[in-house]
Amino acid sequence: MLENGIATAAQEEEESFGNAKKPLTALFSIQQRIEILRKQIEEHNHRYYVLDNPIISDAEYDQLFRELKKLEDENPELITFDSPTQRVGGAPLESFKKVYHRVPMHSLDNVFSEEEFEEFEKKILRFLNLPPDSPIEYVCELKFDGLAVNLTYIDGIFTQGATRGDGIEGEDITQNLKTIKAIPLRISSFLPPENETAAEIWSSSGSPGLIEIRGEVFMTKDELKRLNEERSQKSEPLFANTRNAAAGSLRQLDPKITASRKLDMFCYALGYHEGVAFRTHFKFLNWMRESGFKVNLYSRLAQNRKQVQEYWDEWMEKVKSLPYGADGIVVKVNDLKLQDQLGATSHAPRWATAYKFPAEMRSTRVKVISVSVGRTGKLTPVAELEPIGIDGVVVSSASLHNQDQIERLDIRTGDQVLVRRAGGVIPEVIAVLKDKRKGNELIFQMPDICPLCETPVIHPEGEVDFYCPNESCQSRIERWIWHFCSREAMNIEHVGPKLIQQLVGKNLIQDPLDLYFLKKEQFLEIERMGEKSVQNILDEIEKSKQIGFSKLLYAMGVRHVGKRVAELLAQHFKSLEMISKADLEEFQSIEGIGPEIAESVRHFFRSKTAAEIFEKIKRAGLKTSFHKEASGAPDTQFTGKTVVFTGGLESLTRTQAEEIVKDLGGVPSTSVSRQTGFVVAGKDSGIKQEKAKKIGIPILNEEEFLKILKEAGVRIS
Ligand code: IVH
Repeated sequence: MLENGIATAAQEEEESFGNAKKPLTALFSIQQRIEILRKQIEEHNHRYYVLDNPIISDAEYDQLFRELKKLEDENPELITFDSPTQRVGGAPLESFKKVYHRVPMHSLDNVFSEEEFEEFEKKILRFLNLPPDSPIEYVCELKFDGLAVNLTYIDGIFTQGATRGDGIEGEDITQNLKTIKAIPLRISSFLPPENETAAEIWSSSGSPGLIEIRGEVFMTKDELKRLNEERSQKSEPLFANTRNAAAGSLRQLDPKITASRKLDMFCYALGYHEGVAFRTHFKFLNWMRESGFKVNLYSRLAQNRKQVQEYWDEWMEKVKSLPYGADGIVVKVNDLKLQDQLGATSHAPRWATAYKFPAEMRSTRVKVISVSVGRTGKLTPVAELEPIGIDGVVVSSASLHNQDQIERLDIRTGDQVLVRRAGGVIPEVIAVLKDKRKGNELIFQMPDICPLCETPVIHPEGEVDFYCPNESCQSRIERWIWHFCSREAMNIEHVGPKLIQQLVGKNLIQDPLDLYFLKKEQFLEIERMGEKSVQNILDEIEKSKQIGFSKLLYAMGVRHVGKRVAELLAQHFKSLEMISKADLEEFQSIEGIGPEIAESVRHFFRSKTAAEIFEKIKRAGLKTSFHKEASGAPDTQFTGKTVVFTGGLESLTRTQAEEIVKDLGGVPSTSVSRQTGFVVAGKDSGIKQEKAKKIGIPILNEEEFLKILKEAGVRIS
């Protein structure tokens, strides 16, 4: 035996009681052999994929694997969920199951400069009531370019893996994650918990219970190159960057495809957990490392802001030499008590921020300036560029926004321009290299007619934008429907631009509301649409009927009505009916709505199109009135908080109470953790209340809960 108890195949041969010379009779010894093989294979996986330090050859590894596979094939009753043979990927799924996160998966706020990071720190100190310039200890990590996932371990066994989704609900991609060998199928060691509370939980449950590990699944630059070469040979579209490739590979319904792409994962955060507790984030990282997870080696403690800046300076230089992508660093307050006190806003923790590296800038040529027509009819000039790679993405066009912007930068067709990806994503022309001009560049002029339907364009006074006024312009309709279905509007998945173009092209729909009346057979008329995908779409459409009123208002795509204005309108008018009756003055009386917005909103709500749309909205059964909505509601005690109910309430059913919490911006959950905001304890509440008490989570009785609801304006009949 070698150190770590890992044997080579040759040594195994001598000790083996699984070879043909010694026939096995007792199932017991087969099971023992299987367990030894599993342990060895997973340890070799760990050495190879996590530590990058293999000690046996591929052939020796294969031999161990084949032996295990054979024993399991002969004794299928001994196959377990965490056997390495179960990594290869089972049968393709028809769709991904939705997973409700026990603790929301937040995103991160960004800072882009030393000054902005200083601001971030000041905010922390103010929030904690600490004197300015008190030192804060941070952990600096790289900001990996991939896809955030959540791994759930129950009693140490990997049982479920999910995507982040919208942070509240993700998709179950367990099968696909199992194919990633850097992910342990079993947590290899449980270190004793650090503090008394944890020790109590630990000993009372007798096992580590449930723990969620979060991190980033990514693809290396080399693997992307290999994959793209393979795709190019098969004339398949190439992935633009490692992030898209990782996301595309993880969201495969067929786990065998995921298995064929070499994905990897760095773990960096704790989700819901029981039975373990840590004092600092850095100790948690070490715990993960010792428990078999892959933690990036470059994570480092910083005693103060200056050391954070040193880390950023160092990695800004070195990041390009890494085999994987990173577009900045992530800075996290190290002390977990302070993290708790700081908490989170509705979308991001206050105790962490991304500190981005500056975007790469490249020069290229404007081939032509084209014009696209948006859902509100707005004409947008677009620079069609000689394709150029920026931050690993091929950029071939950039919006120029409007005529004013073109004049300000003096961009002409044929110019050499400097391009970067704003916020690391959207391509943007930032300057013209005028000394490169040859004299044959052409000045751009906004067209007089819509480039799609040829209707004369309008240029409202005082506005920078030009519009196609034709409400039936096909491009406008398609964009409108696309906007309607988008995640932040009605969130109808699987209905993308291509399908919309076909549906509009075949005259099956003329506006987004028509989607609600489409029949299965009509979808089946579309090329390459199978029963299953049509059913998925129909389910999505049906599900969207539950979307709240302010999102529906936003989805209508009225000019100047973004998410915020939609929320203001929903809160003020409370119903579609009231909005359609309102006059200009009433719109203008709403704080946050100026005359221009008021005019645009009134114009739309009085139009014939709006009347037709309203009629369809009602027929389709969408929500046309405002019941306090999470995103639109003023902050309540539940905003952004996880609320756990235990025991029975007298005035409400559990489901009603959970719905109200959701409406008030909270997240109902079923299990108590350090991240729980409140526990609402009704009659006969038991263990959850006990646990909440132990870890110091505020507990509300029914009366206190109802009082908060009353204060938030919720009436219970
Ligand atoms: S921590 C509550 N650490 O960045 C905070 N995130 O822009 C949880 N990311 O959704 C995230 N590297 O996908 C954290 N070292 C790192 C990260 C990291 C990349 C991603 C993650 C997150 C996104 C936010």
